[in-house]
Amino acid sequence: MADDYEIRPAPGAFEDAHLLGRTAFHDTAAPEVSHELERSLWEPDRQLGAYYRGQYVGGAAAFTRDLTVPGGPIPAACVTNVAVSQAHTRRGLLTRMMRVQLTDLFEQGREPVAALWASESGIYRRFGYGLASRHAALDLATREVRLLRPVPAGPPVRVGLATDGKLVADCAAVYDRVRGSAPGYLSRPGAWWDHRLFDAPANREGNGPLQIVVHDGPDGPDGYALYAIEPDWRPDGPYSAAHLREVVAESPQAETALWAFLLHLDLVGRLAAWVAPLDTPLPHLIDHPMRAVQRLGPNLWIRIADLPRALAARTYAAPVDVVLDVTDEFCPWNTGRWRLSAGPDGATCDPTTDPADLALSALDLGAAYLGGTSLDTLSRTGSITELTPGALRATATAFQDPRTPFCPEIF
Ligand SMILES: CC(C)(COP(=O)(O)OP(=O)(O)OC[C@H]1O[C@@H](n2cnc3c(N)ncnc32)[C@H](O)[C@@H]1OP(=O)(O)O)[C@@H](O)C(=O)NCCC(=O)NCCS
Repeated sequence: MADDYEIRPAPGAFEDAHLLGRTAFHDTAAPEVSHELERSLWEPDRQLGAYYRGQYVGGAAAFTRDLTVPGGPIPAACVTNVAVSQAHTRRGLLTRMMRVQLTDLFEQGREPVAALWASESGIYRRFGYGLASRHAALDLATREVRLLRPVPAGPPVRVGLATDGKLVADCAAVYDRVRGSAPGYLSRPGAWWDHRLFDAPANREGNGPLQIVVHDGPDGPDGYALYAIEPDWRPDGPYSAAHLREVVAESPQAETALWAFLLHLDLVGRLAAWVAPLDTPLPHLIDHPMRAVQRLGPNLWIRIADLPRALAARTYAAPVDVVLDVTDEFCPWNTGRWRLSAGPDGATCDPTTDPADLALSALDLGAAYLGGTSLDTLSRTGSITELTPGALRATATAFQDPRTPFCPEIF
């Protein structure tokens, strides 16, 4: 019976949520491996629970982090650990939790957008989440390629284990500078760097320990990579794989030197990354770009929770003054006509009774929000109607960002 279910805040439900999350996501690592770290990141006031006759059978939570959008970082609700017990699925519990979560965001004036990674790409559009960025899994047989240009000799890079506090501090400083203008990047307050570097032996899946390489420029550290080696000794010679977790560089010198280092690792024949940016410069650095095999995957899904605040929170690549006729069935407070007056220095977005130039959904705006999914592309699905000639092109141009959005980490 639907009436036997209740959705409510669950600030004391860490253990229930942790256990259900592990079960629902088929987590095979020993429970103690991530328990303490996850507890330290957990935000009790952001945990929702779905209860069946008082028993915890579902949950959805969020983290409070900054998400970089065109123009810089803004607060975002980073939705996480969404799970419903298998015995209670397909009875509408996720739908009810999503509704409560988004309504709370809006009514409490919290973050104007929500962001998430989806376990299945078929789930979240119905709740108004748009596919805002994509990543590419990377696989490269390193011995089949050469760098197009030799990397100028500089001081040696510094290499060590991810337990080295100085190296970690250098990575954090570089990351923070880069993330300010990299749409899709998230702030890493508190224990988030521990999360990013999480390297319990039980979780290594045959890899060695996580390692860090830091590049130093004229003014100090300006790039790093996180990687782990999967040893592979074959009859015809060593063919180990370097699994990349993250490559972050704030100068071309750092970027090229880090790739040169990774391409020339001794005894290694393969570079692989499960989540890497679509626009990695790597194919442009090597003589055979087609050897760098990239396989697309969905990255961040963005939900516009409070439309005028969300659209005013980012900047736009070109000036635009447009009236948007927005439909939003799941969050009806976003439905209506909004005038967006925007440009590279900022934006205003206010309700209006003026005639609309473009009719679209909040989902379209979520997909376009990070500047990577073109409104022009979306218009070709038939979801956007141009009511004033030229409005689509002008708005699509304004929403795009020169930097392809990419979130490097799953949360
Ligand atoms: C995904 C999950 C949370 C769905 O919970 P639920 O309570 O069954 O969801 P609902 O009953 O509210 O379903 C809402 C809609 O989503 C659809 N849906 C649910 N799970 C889906 C999935 N994995 N793939 C595609 N569609 C899905 C339902 O069919 C339903 O469609 P409808 O609106 O057309 O009827 C639950 O199945 C689960 O915990 N799965 C394992 C963990 C997981 O994948 N969590 C999501 C993390 S991002």
